[in-house]
Amino acid sequence: MLSRTLGRKLLAHETPFYLYDTALLRQTLESVVYESQRYNYKLHYAIKANYDDRILSIIREYGLGIDCASGNELRKAIEAGFDPKGIVYAGVGKRDKELKYAIEQNILAINCESTEELEVLNNLSAEAGRVTDIALRVNPDIDPKTNHCIDTGQADSKFGISYEELLEKAECIKRYENLNIIGLHIHIGSQIRELHVFENMCNKVNVIISNLTALGFNLRFVDVGGGLGINYDMPENEPIPNFASLFSIVHNYLNVGDKEVHFEFGRAIVGECGELITKVLFNKTTATGRKLVIVDASMTELIRPALYGSYHNIENITSEAETTAKYTVVGTACESTDVFDENVGLRTTRRGDLLTIKSAGAYGMSMASRYNLHDLPGAVYSEDLK
Ligand code: LLP
Repeated sequence: MLSRTLGRKLLAHETPFYLYDTALLRQTLESVVYESQRYNYKLHYAIKANYDDRILSIIREYGLGIDCASGNELRKAIEAGFDPKGIVYAGVGKRDKELKYAIEQNILAINCESTEELEVLNNLSAEAGRVTDIALRVNPDIDPKTNHCIDTGQADSKFGISYEELLEKAECIKRYENLNIIGLHIHIGSQIRELHVFENMCNKVNVIISNLTALGFNLRFVDVGGGLGINYDMPENEPIPNFASLFSIVHNYLNVGDKEVHFEFGRAIVGECGELITKVLFNKTTATGRKLVIVDASMTELIRPALYGSYHNIENITSEAETTAKYTVVGTACESTDVFDENVGLRTTRRGDLLTIKSAGAYGMSMASRYNLHDLPGAVYSEDLK
């Protein structure tokens, strides 16, 4: 782990900050590209996971496309030099100005998530004098066996068009003259560690594809989303996620003939390459005997523990103490849920020590806020430290 290697050298940087291991990012990209090429799968990076400019430019070097979820994410991807024909744009609630912008960019596909959106997009495309390429995001009703805060493909979810409604309205959808329906899009959830869930997803996609084909849709690609999880418990044991296993499952279970198969990974690409480095401000013990370590980061830099109860492994990277103790690590924000973790075993911790909060490369900086008027955290890249 990079921060452990750098230790006290990191004291030179103003905390809190994100430390990015760009060598690990490159190794991860090499792995995903190599494994995907075995099956000719197409890759998109879910830019919502982290839109840091340096990270995007490294990802672009490896030829990935982008999955975006807002007009601004789309703009960011285009400004970062990604080929529009490698960009897909999903989202349950796209504003008219976002749709108009997306129509003009001539991207691979706008992934539509409701029948009303299809109608609006058809009208806006007609006004623009264009025929827009789109993919239908269908809700497959699959339990991804992950934290319920981040599942997206169960029947009651806000995401995607229900399969039943799609079949019911298929004839009407096919008649839209300014839409060119070229893809099917599915995304069942995030941080999925039980890979057999993807077998269920493939079985469902096979049924959806064969029914849509029978109804006369001529689909060119199937985008099966992202969701591959990382090892938050023991990141050192698995710094690069197991792309090979996921691709082999999809290869064995998905039956879509010669259609292209696309993936949209966020966390699996950037999650392990980022750590949040924070300094201990104070130690104190509550009246109930709980030992608190108060650090200078908070939920404004990394909201995942406070928002979803997510676990991130924490380590003291500067203490040389021989003794350890159990601590509750809390942040500076005026919120009681601003707790990074409880009962954390750390080397005896003092004011001025640096802690690393690991596996924070995905949905860390991109979800940062300025609550309490905190400054946004900076970034330090390993390749600049050499
Ligand atoms: N495609 C779509 C349509 C998505 O909605 C997402 C994530 C992805 C791809 C990328 O999923 P990934 O490969 O990263 O699992 N903030 C939450 C995660 C929210 C995920 C939202 N959608 C967290 O910190 O866990």
